[in-house]
Amino acid sequence: MTPNTHDILVVDDEPEVAASISEVIALSGYMCTYAESPAEAIDLLRRRHFDVVLADMLMPGMDGLELLQEARQVCPGSRGILMSGRMTSTMARSAIRQGAYDVLSKPLDIDHVRAVLAEACEQATQSPEPARPETASGTSRSEPASMYEAVRVGSVPQRVDLGFVLSLTASLEAKNSATRHHSENTAYYAWILGSRLGLAGDELLVLRTASLVHDVGKIGVPDVILEKPGPLTPAEYAVVKRHPRIGYEILRHVKGLHSVLGAVLYHHEWWDGSGYPQGLHGAETPLAARVIHLADAIDAMFSRRSYRRRLTLSRVLAEIEACAGRQFDPRLAREAIEWLGSAPGAVLTRRNRGDLLVNAGLTSIPGGIGEVLPGVR
Ligand SMILES: [Fe+2]
Ligand SMILES: [Fe+2]
Repeated sequence: MTPNTHDILVVDDEPEVAASISEVIALSGYMCTYAESPAEAIDLLRRRHFDVVLADMLMPGMDGLELLQEARQVCPGSRGILMSGRMTSTMARSAIRQGAYDVLSKPLDIDHVRAVLAEACEQATQSPEPARPETASGTSRSEPASMYEAVRVGSVPQRVDLGFVLSLTASLEAKNSATRHHSENTAYYAWILGSRLGLAGDELLVLRTASLVHDVGKIGVPDVILEKPGPLTPAEYAVVKRHPRIGYEILRHVKGLHSVLGAVLYHHEWWDGSGYPQGLHGAETPLAARVIHLADAIDAMFSRRSYRRRLTLSRVLAEIEACAGRQFDPRLAREAIEWLGSAPGAVLTRRNRGDLLVNAGLTSIPGGIGEVLPGVR
């Protein structure tokens, strides 16, 4: 199966609807952005190339069909899909005659959305894309924000052997004992948060896989920095900040891992836009990356560091609450607080770790990978 590598723009004047459609699409592995008005959408289309634009029909100022026609002008090669809660078959045929690739009835049937998106993306691929300035590494140099335009993720979660994923994780743990267990622990917390959000099947599988490999890029960060006991200098921190990009570069060659690239690349983005590597805001960051970001922080807070003890459960809950809406997606933060507050026994400790990981299906090795790696203590 050829992996789809496409960018989607969702446009709906109801912000919550736009955000939730965008999240579902992102969970299918696409890079997905949303706009809350036709004007905002056109502005985005002028600055970035999108393969597919998914627009609501009824919006103030300009209806969805007009927007799709405008989109084809400013973003040649894109395909437009119209969404409407009151779409008759006559209106649908008329919309398609006027250039819409397809129409979708609201409430959306997610499986149908995925199927139509896959087709539209394939069509978009067959049209030539506008030329972009390329560097030798394949990234654009037109402006800093567009550096990652070339980042695409697979649309269809593809199965990849868990043993292969765990060997990638083991490579990192073998190199750096300071973060021993971190990948599996993050996967455990992400798995539970994802389940509480209602994710299941392939979506949960993608989340688990992405969590296990989220820090694989740290293989490219010198040990002297990763294991430094004190605070990092700005120059050292700049090196650490490269690891999501390095992880992306390592994993993008594995066909079965295309669906996790967005989560790996963006797992250090903050809800308020002050994270890295791209400074994405809110739901612009794929949901899986937001879940991993919080799960990663939970594991870090419950882990002992050379300069501090493991935080208590109350401290961790207080930290999550304090950072909700700034660092963490507030909805996820609420879920985490509710869960951790009601199930303190589910927090990983040295004693219960092996059993909890096995129960979550994250390893068949009692205690996890770190227990069987020679030289890792
Ligand atoms: Fe990381
Ligand atoms: Fe991490």
